[in-house]
Amino acid sequence: NIKGCIFDLDGVVVDTAKYHFLAWKKLGQELGFDFTEQDNERLKGVSRMRSLDILLEIGGLSLTEEEKVAAATKKNEWYLEYIKQMKPEEILPGVLDFFKSLKEAGIKIALGSASKNAVLILNILDIKGYFDVIVDGNSVSKAKPDPEVFLQGAEKLGLTAEECVVFEDAEAGVEAAKNGGMRCVGIGEPAVLSKADVVVDGFNAFTIENLKQL
Ligand code: BG6
Ligand code: MG
Repeated sequence: NIKGCIFDLDGVVVDTAKYHFLAWKKLGQELGFDFTEQDNERLKGVSRMRSLDILLEIGGLSLTEEEKVAAATKKNEWYLEYIKQMKPEEILPGVLDFFKSLKEAGIKIALGSASKNAVLILNILDIKGYFDVIVDGNSVSKAKPDPEVFLQGAEKLGLTAEECVVFEDAEAGVEAAKNGGMRCVGIGEPAVLSKADVVVDGFNAFTIENLKQL
């Protein structure tokens, strides 16, 4: 009864989290404070402007709205420099085979990402063609853990929430899926993603057979 799979992008299809981290770290340095990899966990799945607010909170700084827009723009420019150099080899292991097996089984594929750079990244990785539907940071108004991004994905696929499974690496993303009434496969640490129906460390450990058993 699973008719659609909705994928988060950053950290599920490709490890862009490391590039987000490098760009935020650079911004932190410019603003005069350090930003650690552990701090970066708090930004996963979180929108660009909300991420900036968290970064500023960590640094104990406050900026005007205008300064915030300038800072977020700068961060994004640095981030774009990194992702423009990405190669299709950076697609996470097992992802393409999983997409292909979904296609063969007639299961639809959607993207459900908070990123405004999602389409650019799919094009750089040359995988846009796999997606029947794309919902990204440009089309949603409520951020994860609100289920809007995944509910829009299901609706655009013409499916109900019960017919869809979400793949997520962020705690806020798992919560969004569950808030939307969807089954969720966590990609990452079971301790962080405890609300997911099942947690695996990647697509080499998850096949269409596992999907059918959810
Ligand atoms: C999410 C990432 O997918 O997209 C977050 O997990 C990121 O780290 C967010 O902040 C927004 O991305 P972008 O590309 O619009 O700045
Ligand atoms: Mg993610």
